Amino acid sequence: MLVGAAFAVLLIAISDLRTSGRLVARSRSTNAAADRLEELVIDLETGVRGYVIARQERFLKPWKAARAAFPTRAKTLERLAEEPGQKQRVRSIDRDVAAYINEYSVPLVEAVRRNSPAARSIATTEEGRQRIDALRTEFDRFKSTERDLLSSRQRRDDRNAGRAVAGATVGLAGSIVLILGFGGYLVRAIVWPLRRASRLSRQIAAGSLGTRMQEGSVGEIGALERSFNTMAASLEHDREERRRLTDEQAGLRRVATLVAQGGPPDQMFSAVTREVGLLSGADLARMERYEADGTVIGVAQWSKHDEQLAVGRRFSLEGVSIAAQVVETRGPVRVDSFAEAAGQIADEARQLGIRSSVGCPIVVEGQLWGVIAASSRTDVPFPAETESQMAEFTELVATAIANAESQAELRASRARIVAASDLTRRRIERDLHDGVQQRLVSLALGLRAATSEMPSGLDEVEKELTNVASGLGGVLDDLREVSRGIHPAILGQGGIGPALRTLAQRSKIPVELDVRVEGRLPEPVEVAAYYVVSEALTNAAKHARASNVSVAVEVHGSVLRVVVRDDGDGGADPNRGSGLLGLKDRAEAIGGRISVVSPHGAGTTLTAELPLDDETG
Ligand SMILES: Nc1ncnc2c1ncn2[C@@H]1O[C@H](COP(=O)(O)OP(=O)(O)OP(=O)(O)O)[C@@H](O)[C@H]1O
Ligand SMILES: [Mg+2]
Repeated sequence: MLVGAAFAVLLIAISDLRTSGRLVARSRSTNAAADRLEELVIDLETGVRGYVIARQERFLKPWKAARAAFPTRAKTLERLAEEPGQKQRVRSIDRDVAAYINEYSVPLVEAVRRNSPAARSIATTEEGRQRIDALRTEFDRFKSTERDLLSSRQRRDDRNAGRAVAGATVGLAGSIVLILGFGGYLVRAIVWPLRRASRLSRQIAAGSLGTRMQEGSVGEIGALERSFNTMAASLEHDREERRRLTDEQAGLRRVATLVAQGGPPDQMFSAVTREVGLLSGADLARMERYEADGTVIGVAQWSKHDEQLAVGRRFSLEGVSIAAQVVETRGPVRVDSFAEAAGQIADEARQLGIRSSVGCPIVVEGQLWGVIAASSRTDVPFPAETESQMAEFTELVATAIANAESQAELRASRARIVAASDLTRRRIERDLHDGVQQRLVSLALGLRAATSEMPSGLDEVEKELTNVASGLGGVLDDLREVSRGIHPAILGQGGIGPALRTLAQRSKIPVELDVRVEGRLPEPVEVAAYYVVSEALTNAAKHARASNVSVAVEVHGSVLRVVVRDDGDGGADPNRGSGLLGLKDRAEAIGGRISVVSPHGAGTTLTAELPLDDETG
């Protein structure tokens, strides 16, 4: 606006300057034309005077020329003179000159030609002088007026020039200010934001995805700021999502490894509870198992701040709780507030400062086994994907529980089979010992008594009866040997030490026996240890061609370790017979294990580790 006004002033001033310049030039031309017209008047006067004095026609030449030129020049001057008064004055001069010519100089010339004495009279000369003076005076007035006009026009001209200079100065200054201001505006509004965007883009490229541009600009730059922030937010969200998925996968892998290792379920429950707590961003997480009496019992817990929650404590399902809702829905549930909720679990939740919880069922082979719940102390709701994350973990938990249960069942059934077979063996051994063996013994005694009371002379019969009696003794020995193999009755009497000593004595290969056991051990362990040593000694005699066998039995903590080592050929392979496999079954049935190390030509070492406190034993 300001600059526009300045330039308008400048244009007007220039236009005025041009007009007044033109007027000044016209004034000057007018003055020059007046001068030239006055010169003609002088020519008229001097020409006629010279002719009067010299009376020669040639002196009339300027007079004639001036007389001819005057009307045209007078018209020119009248045209040039702009002021009406001046035009009037020109016309008056024109009339007076015409009068001077017609009334004075033409009659004078004719008088000279006629040689009239009047031509030289003082009166005539005086009239001519007066007329010329009058004309000069008129010319002076005309020129003086014209000069006044000229000087006033020049003053106006100067004023216009001043205005033009002022307008130009203001316009120029305004333009410079405008250019600088606009330049500054462009730098602030466009260059700086673009530079900032470029710097922040580099930060984003370097990985600082939390970088944002300050918004607030208008137009394209504002749109750029918004787009930049949208892009950064989207990149950050993607990275968070990737990180979350990576964490989830890592957590699932850790738990899956534990499941595959088949370690203690408690360890896996704790690991899963911790992973779920960490992944969901919870403050507390907890796993509970449903009990038959309609309660839940805590089996694992995790806390962001290492607080100890009640593991092993029972809670009633009355009132509001994740566990109670899961029973109803059999699916994932959320509790958004425990503020007004009733029930034991809700009370506990309020005490712990829990605001909201989310939970998922753990279903093992179609049965609701338990529940896992994550809880928050803030008002920020759990992410929408929390339930699906939990579900992945609960599937692993269910698999692990199902595996553990089936393994436990397998061990229990093995133990039952071994126990049942041991029972049967013991019963057969007792039946043989108390029944068949006793009857055979009493038959042998009866036979011996009958033989000793035989009348003489029946030598043949007596010899026959003696043979029968000794055959009966052999049958008794065989029967004892068989019943010993069926069940080591001696175990029941003296425990593992005497039983192993008997085995060692009966061995065909010399045995170094080292038994470091005090008192009695659980019966299944004693029986298993006995069969391990018995089978190892039999194998050493049968397959190893050994010269010596060592037997070491010792308690290590809660494990009985039995090591039988021979110096024979080695090369034992459990898959080639049933003896070693039977030992493996027996040991594993009570939670123990067997290992056979038998390199060719370097003897065989059989080691059994039998737990003393196994629940299934
Ligand atoms: N101490 C040993 N030294 C060398 N070879 C052995 C020894 N113990 C076992 N073996 C080898 O390993 C195989 C498997 O032994 P295992 O006791 O399982 O079966 P077995 O003795 O052949 O038959 P069973 O024990 O059922 O009467 C044997 O057949 C034998 O070849
Ligand atoms: Mg064998």
